[in-house]
Amino acid sequence: MSLVSSSIEGVREANFRFRCIACHDLRDAAGQDFRCEKCGDLLEIHYPDWKDSKPDAGQLKSSWKDRRLSSNPVDLSGVWRFRDLLPTVEDKDVITLREGNTPLYELPQCARITGVPRLFAKHQGMNPTGSFKDGGMTVAATFARRAGFRWVACASTGNTSASMAAYAARGGMRSLVLVPDGKISWSKLSQALDYGAVTCQLRTDFDGCLRLLQELVRQAPVYQLNSINPFRLEGQKTLAIELLEQLDWQPPDHIIVPGGNLGNSSAIGKALLELRELGLISSLPKLSVIQAEGANALVRTLREAGGKRLISVTAETRATAIRIGNPASWKKAAHVLETTGGACEQVSEFEIAKAKAEIGAEGIGCEPASAVTLAGLKKLVQQGFVKNDETVVLVLTGNLLKDPDFTIGFHRGDMSGSIQEAEAVASLRHPPIVLDASLDAVIRTLERFN
Ligand code: F0G
Repeated sequence: MSLVSSSIEGVREANFRFRCIACHDLRDAAGQDFRCEKCGDLLEIHYPDWKDSKPDAGQLKSSWKDRRLSSNPVDLSGVWRFRDLLPTVEDKDVITLREGNTPLYELPQCARITGVPRLFAKHQGMNPTGSFKDGGMTVAATFARRAGFRWVACASTGNTSASMAAYAARGGMRSLVLVPDGKISWSKLSQALDYGAVTCQLRTDFDGCLRLLQELVRQAPVYQLNSINPFRLEGQKTLAIELLEQLDWQPPDHIIVPGGNLGNSSAIGKALLELRELGLISSLPKLSVIQAEGANALVRTLREAGGKRLISVTAETRATAIRIGNPASWKKAAHVLETTGGACEQVSEFEIAKAKAEIGAEGIGCEPASAVTLAGLKKLVQQGFVKNDETVVLVLTGNLLKDPDFTIGFHRGDMSGSIQEAEAVASLRHPPIVLDASLDAVIRTLERFN
């Protein structure tokens, strides 16, 4: 099995090592499955130098600010601008599409709906391929090429594959995509095709695709770019760094994120802990994870097994991005929830669809999986976990255009369930109107809506 090494031969000493999240064994190299050789648990990237010489918080803040005025491609990336907290690599080796630099929007209408006036959305759907995956992919693809791999591969519910295919293409590598047949949106599939991936639609679900990928990387010289790959999580960490910078280093009280394979919540949590360790922030936001009721493995794992062992589920939800029943990073996410004091909730299909339309009505929009955050916030407010004088940031993980079938179905009314549900979303639905091509018909329609 080929090893992925932390050292950069002949250039400079690496600034990181691979550390097991369970037994804390430290290594310079990791196997292709990114699992601990001693106990088999997941690996994370660890920066041993921080023990004796931590980067200076003030200096970091000012050099990150200065880099915004630079025209160097690595400074123009909203991920590599924060490279002091990432594994080191030569600038010339970086594969970037100018990812990151995503907006932080206020959500005034959703604030009124939830009764939380200071409500923001960090919109990761504004990344180059339309999802938060780009933040992690720029780092992991860079290290894949640096390690000499010709092929990269992933299992995906769609966004990872779109992102991986794009970064592989930019970096001159081939990519292999394993997706569940019929269970990912056409938009995401079309991205992978256009970026030149070898795309296999497997007759199984995401969990089946991921299992197969694990076997494949043990046998073939293919570099896996799922979020088991700890370089992915390092890149995704920068979402939280950029967010804190946008808030002038005043931590919000809550960050709310959707949970699927649980890589993103793990990455954001790692960032928050590191920012506190380095003195960039003094308090930790509570990081909460929201899942779809039909794909609620973490919810059940925490409620029914006290977070001690994973309870897998057979996943079913129309929010196909998070249709995942056996999340790989559940232990990392459980740790983050415990450390930051966050909550874990589940929301119904109806609640997701309604919340998605409410975010759309702000002129922002997102894909269904992202909308679980607003739906979850409503529950957390009802439970008194989120107070109305607190600041809340929802992480919107994917762009509205990622799943047009869902959106059109909602507005046409294909998805309404009971009469009460249909009534509850009536004012949010804006179905297209088919008319004769006459001025009179258009004017009468205008009057009807006046
Ligand atoms: N939101 C979107 C839009 C996603 O695509 C995903 C995961 C998540 C949330 C959940 O994030 O897995 O880090 O907990 N998408 C995967 C994929 C797994 O293959 O694109 P997570």
